Amino acid sequence: MSSPPPLLLLHLFLLISAVSAADIPLGSTLYASDPNSKWASPNNTFALAFIADPTSSLVPAITYNNISIWQAGASANSSAVLRLLPSGDLQLLPSSSSTTPLWSSATANIGVSAASLEESGNFILKNSSGAALWSTFDHPTDTVVPTQNLNVSHTLSSGLYSFKIQNNGNLTLLWNSTIIYYNSGLNSTMNSNLTNPTLDLQSTGILTLSDPTLATPLDLAYSSDYAEEGDILRFLKLDSDGNLRIYSSAKGSGTTNVRWAAVSDQCQVYGFCGNMGICSYNDTYPVCGCPSENFELMDPNDSRKGCKRKVELRDCPGREAMLQLDHAKFLTYQPELASQVFFVGISPCRLNCLVGPCTASTSLADGSGLCYLKTSDFVSGYHSPAIPSTSFVKVCSPVMPNPSVASASGGTQTRWRLTAWLVVVVVLVTVLGLVVVEGGLWLWCFRNSPKFGGLSAQYALLEYASGAPVQFSYKELLKATKGFKEKLGAGGFGAVYRGVLANRTVAAVKQLEGIEQGEKQFRMEVATISSTHHLNLVRLIGFCSEGRHRLLVYEFMKNGSLDNFLFTSAEQSGKHLNWEHRYNIALGTARGITYLHEECRDCIVHCDIKPENILLDENYHAKVSDFGLAKLVNPKDHRYRTLTSVRGTRGYLAPEWLANLPITSKSDVYSYGMVLLEIVSGRRNFEVSAETNHKKFSVWAYEELEKGNFEGIVDRRLYSNEIDMHQVLRAIQVSFWCIQEQPSQRPMMGKVVQMLEGIMEIDRPPAPKAATEGSVGGTSVTASSISALSTFAASMPVPSSSSSLQTAGISSSASGKHGERASSSLLHSETK
Ligand SMILES: *[C@@H]1O[C@H](CO)[C@@H](O)[C@H](O)[C@H]1NC(C)=O
Ligand SMILES: *[C@@H]1O[C@H](CO)[C@@H](O)[C@H](O)[C@H]1NC(C)=O
Ligand SMILES: *[C@@H]1O[C@H](CO)[C@@H](O)[C@H](O)[C@H]1NC(C)=O
Ligand SMILES: *[C@@H]1O[C@H](CO)[C@@H](O)[C@H](O)[C@H]1NC(C)=O
Ligand SMILES: *[C@@H]1O[C@H](CO)[C@@H](O)[C@H](O)[C@H]1NC(C)=O
Ligand SMILES: *[C@@H]1O[C@H](CO)[C@@H](O)[C@H](O)[C@H]1NC(C)=O
Ligand SMILES: *[C@@H]1O[C@H](CO)[C@@H](O)[C@H](O)[C@H]1NC(C)=O
Ligand SMILES: *[C@@H]1O[C@H](CO)[C@@H](O)[C@H](O)[C@H]1NC(C)=O
Ligand SMILES: *[C@@H]1O[C@H](CO)[C@@H](O)[C@H](O)[C@H]1NC(C)=O
Ligand SMILES: *[C@@H]1O[C@H](CO)[C@@H](O)[C@H](O)[C@H]1NC(C)=O
Ligand SMILES: *[C@@H]1O[C@H](CO)[C@@H](O)[C@H](O)[C@H]1NC(C)=O
Repeated sequence: MSSPPPLLLLHLFLLISAVSAADIPLGSTLYASDPNSKWASPNNTFALAFIADPTSSLVPAITYNNISIWQAGASANSSAVLRLLPSGDLQLLPSSSSTTPLWSSATANIGVSAASLEESGNFILKNSSGAALWSTFDHPTDTVVPTQNLNVSHTLSSGLYSFKIQNNGNLTLLWNSTIIYYNSGLNSTMNSNLTNPTLDLQSTGILTLSDPTLATPLDLAYSSDYAEEGDILRFLKLDSDGNLRIYSSAKGSGTTNVRWAAVSDQCQVYGFCGNMGICSYNDTYPVCGCPSENFELMDPNDSRKGCKRKVELRDCPGREAMLQLDHAKFLTYQPELASQVFFVGISPCRLNCLVGPCTASTSLADGSGLCYLKTSDFVSGYHSPAIPSTSFVKVCSPVMPNPSVASASGGTQTRWRLTAWLVVVVVLVTVLGLVVVEGGLWLWCFRNSPKFGGLSAQYALLEYASGAPVQFSYKELLKATKGFKEKLGAGGFGAVYRGVLANRTVAAVKQLEGIEQGEKQFRMEVATISSTHHLNLVRLIGFCSEGRHRLLVYEFMKNGSLDNFLFTSAEQSGKHLNWEHRYNIALGTARGITYLHEECRDCIVHCDIKPENILLDENYHAKVSDFGLAKLVNPKDHRYRTLTSVRGTRGYLAPEWLANLPITSKSDVYSYGMVLLEIVSGRRNFEVSAETNHKKFSVWAYEELEKGNFEGIVDRRLYSNEIDMHQVLRAIQVSFWCIQEQPSQRPMMGKVVQMLEGIMEIDRPPAPKAATEGSVGGTSVTASSISALSTFAASMPVPSSSSSLQTAGISSSASGKHGERASSSLLHSETK
């Protein structure tokens, strides 16, 4: 029995220690409390140890030059330990006595016999024959180092940001796993055949893509120092600011330099400035700020956390306003929902957002005509003088001024604040002074005036004069109309009631009936209507959309509608319109319609011009009402025209309505011509009596004109000494031009205005043939004389720039497919 020689024992000991110099045996532990506790790679290039993360908790990490290239999936405090359990599981435990891990490699009992940190930076758990059963390279966190491969099953992540390689080899950066703000890779001829694309950062600094189908790896990106000599580690890292960068760091230098970045414009990184945050650049760096003083930073110590409204929208129902941000956009990445992209101008882009479930909108203003409505809770802004876009954010009024967006911290900001304060104080003092002086003057002037009360009501009206439609609750309108007591009239869309709003403005409240449309569509239509402003159009003050209730609030017209003046005898109504008034009404109406047809952004064919829809204010100025409502009533209506769906008013309908020919703005011209004849004559154009030889009045009137007896057409209630016969003749001639059977014979509305104004010579009108046969058309319409109007895209030239866009809505109405009409007006042409 001989004991082993001491020399052999020594050799055995040396052998074991040589192996264990690189291997970490089962049962080893790292202590967060001990800064010297670490597992290092053979040449000490990399080390696994606890490091402090930005929130100053401790996390086990593999570091190079103090730069973390991998972290365990959880952070802990100084009592934590990282332990390689005898079972082979690597666990992060809150304390050395604990058995519930905060994080684990999930490798228990699969044959792990040791661990080691390789010189490449890879930490592996291996079995007794040295095969890696688990490695940090296979479980990357936010960094890739040379020799570490990334395939489609891997994800780098950092906060809400993540980086993935797609099956087609494209590199993508995502925010919150949903929004792709970077997507770059091979062109379509190259990417179709890939089977297992793998991304690899060469130690020389070149990012390559390899795939079994590719003979040689493809170079995707070069770090700016690629192939430079030296003991340099290069790594690809997804930073917490959402950008993907290649860094290089010379061994032992302690310095790290950015050599490539995926997103060259940091402000294009979605969510970089948090929710509602606006990204911009100071001289060199991207900085974050809030849209305006309506907002404050979520965290004053970290502007990247985003902003919040000082007053939440839910706390100010009905008092929302749109804050305008020039040279700003809200970041938009595909796929954007089609329902949130529109072809509209700046002001409907603002209004559509105001009236809808929308937090912000951007009108690109780059010639594309695109408007994006942001309905999500999270929006990410970018401000730069180079951006043509105009953006809007919904806030609680009053809208407060923008600070110089995202001004930098430090000395400049303090100075800026001081200056701002000074300006504010000076302005306030001045304004206060003026108010006191003016108030004094007012009191002094109007002390005994009964007008004083009226003035304050008018003053309050300014609130509504800002242009945006106000949203009312049903309760408010119930109160305003005293329970819908005072009925002003009833039209095809429902009854109209008189109401007094909270600010003492008198208004006409229209209770819409038979609405078949959803809330969203309704709000869109409201936005269209209220974006149409003209002196001769009735203005929409606001609306209500609650459950089944749909109401529109219009400005109140003191003198009611034109028909009351024209067709009731003065003795009956006590109402009389002299010629001057009538002529101005004819002219004003023509101007209002011209605006709808030719001048406003989203052109509208009224489709129901008649005296009932021409209202008169206290100065007898004409205001056209009820434009743009038809789509609200029956959405199917505007697709196919059947006899029953023609609900315009008899006597005013152009012949093409019944001949199933395209309805264009010329159809309104026809109706206007009839109204003009009635303004002159004070008689319905379809009236038949012994006096008119049992013919329709309009037919008889033309015969009288032919005979040279145009005075016979004129309303006998007009006093001959106040009539301007030149104007009367002009009006009659214009009216016969307007009611020509052939739409092409009728003048455009703009021309009508010029003819009435006397700017343009008027030829003798030919016989309006339709007028002789028109009685068929006039009476075969459903008996109801309910008014129903339609909003159609007017027959306007299709803007050439949008020819590739979905202009079907416009062009089909212009070219007039038989029996079919545009299914959407310009405002609602949606992109795919
Ligand atoms: C460790 O460093 C030595 C000398 O610097 C070198 O010869 C050796 O190759 C390095 N080992 C590894 C694994 O890189
Ligand atoms: C790493 O950081 C520690 C302390 O934070 C410091 O003492 C050490 O010098 C750093 N090492 C390098 C290579 O920068
Ligand atoms: C660390 O956290 C654990 C709970 O996770 C707690 O019980 C312990 O007191 C903490 N230790 C220190 C030093 O904060
Ligand atoms: C180590 O793992 C490799 C790969 O899984 C396997 O081929 C080998 O047999 C294992 N060795 C032992 C001793 O289990
Ligand atoms: C990705 O690579 C890992 C090893 O690094 C491998 O286990 C996995 O199967 C690969 N995924 C695909 C889809 O090829
Ligand atoms: C991220 O997405 C989830 C659902 O996918 C959502 O609940 C969460 O609010 C989003 N985070 C932010 C900051 O919007
Ligand atoms: C991949 O990236 C290219 C540009 O680098 C882009 O044109 C292409 O659309 C992307 N492919 C997909 C499927 O997103
Ligand atoms: C696609 O990329 C390959 C390699 O980069 C190039 O040879 C080819 O011409 C490209 N094809 C197109 C259509 O751009
Ligand atoms: C892709 O595959 C098709 C057929 O499998 C082949 O004709 C084509 O050349 C391939 N394209 C590339 C870029 O390899
Ligand atoms: C720009 O912002 C950065 C980071 O906030 C700051 O360090 C730098 O001083 C700012 N530069 C100027 C010119 O304000
Ligand atoms: C901001 O930092 C200061 C001092 O550094 C601290 O007192 C304050 O609590 C911090 N505010 C927030 C909201 O974290």
